[in-house]
Amino acid sequence: MAKVLVTGGAGYIGSHTLVDLIDHGHAVVSIDNYLNSDPSVYQSVEKITNSKIDYEDVDLKSMPDLKRVFEEHTFDAVIHFAALKSVGDSVENPLSYYENNIAGMVNLLKCLVEYGVENFIFSSSCSVYGNADELPVVESTPIGSAESPYARTKQIGEQIIADVSVAHPDIRFCVLRYFNPAGAHPSILIGESARNKANNLVPVITETAIGKRAALHVFGDNYDTRDGTCIRDYIHVMDLAHAHTLAVEYLIREKPQSIATFNLGSGTGSTVLEVIKTFEQVADQKLNFKMVDRRPGDVEAVYADYSLAKELLGWSPQLDLKDIMRTAWAWEQHRSK
Ligand code: UD1
Repeated sequence: MAKVLVTGGAGYIGSHTLVDLIDHGHAVVSIDNYLNSDPSVYQSVEKITNSKIDYEDVDLKSMPDLKRVFEEHTFDAVIHFAALKSVGDSVENPLSYYENNIAGMVNLLKCLVEYGVENFIFSSSCSVYGNADELPVVESTPIGSAESPYARTKQIGEQIIADVSVAHPDIRFCVLRYFNPAGAHPSILIGESARNKANNLVPVITETAIGKRAALHVFGDNYDTRDGTCIRDYIHVMDLAHAHTLAVEYLIREKPQSIATFNLGSGTGSTVLEVIKTFEQVADQKLNFKMVDRRPGDVEAVYADYSLAKELLGWSPQLDLKDIMRTAWAWEQHRSK
């Protein structure tokens, strides 16, 4: 059993990861500043796992608060989710992205060094690849030019880790590059419930279907893809969550000498129209959508080769796009009651 500090544990991927860690026998402490989440999610996590969650209201930007957490507990590993994640918002508010995503991470790493925590897992993103020349992308695919300040904070985060790993070889690092997480826990007690307006495809689809939005805008139908719409790799949040548990166990067991970087995607690219069609099948209803101009900053196509995660972590996705749409739709219906 490991004792794991989860930053951003009240967030979307964080809350599902708390469940998976607890389900696999690990102890967790969660910290969050609720900038884009709500502490009520912990009650749902407690209900699912039938265990009490140790959580605190801590902002990574406050070093004294953060140090207090490390003084109170001895952690085997830290999983760092807490960050802002909207591509469009990051273009308008770059400084809050650098402040939260970079300054917060630096404080956290200082604590790892000071308190001797040996294992660190970082939430990175497929956005670090930019517009890749070859698909699917593998971990050695060159880092591309960042298409947004958000993507740049993930690239910088990875670079900070590279530098810190040289200066502090006693700390082991795992970088997880997420593709497009979607879906909800099968209990439908937790799901994606950001405070900020949803702008990712799957929540926009379910919000349109339930009537919160008049129509879904499909951003561009003239890309060089099989139906003209962008290709992405949608990965169920439960599969993604489990990869974090495996990453903690891997770092502790294998003590890798170099940074362990993994793509976490389904390996399948789906176009926007294919995602819409899957929703229509699963929900048995037509979706109101219309084609509009391209969205600035969108890459044309990206999907993962996850064979490294399969080989070293023993991870492979168990759920598919239909499971994603089924649980996302059930979650939307539940939270709109
Ligand atoms: C991006 C990042 C991802 C990051 C995520 C965080 C890339 C390649 N990916 O995901 O790493 O974790 O932001 O938010 O940069 N779409 C529509 N209409 C909509 C919404 C989306 O057509 O209303 C389309 C987009 O054009 C895109 C696809 O759906 O082709 C997925 O978009 P979205 O869910 O926003 O995720 P990404 O931009 O791929």
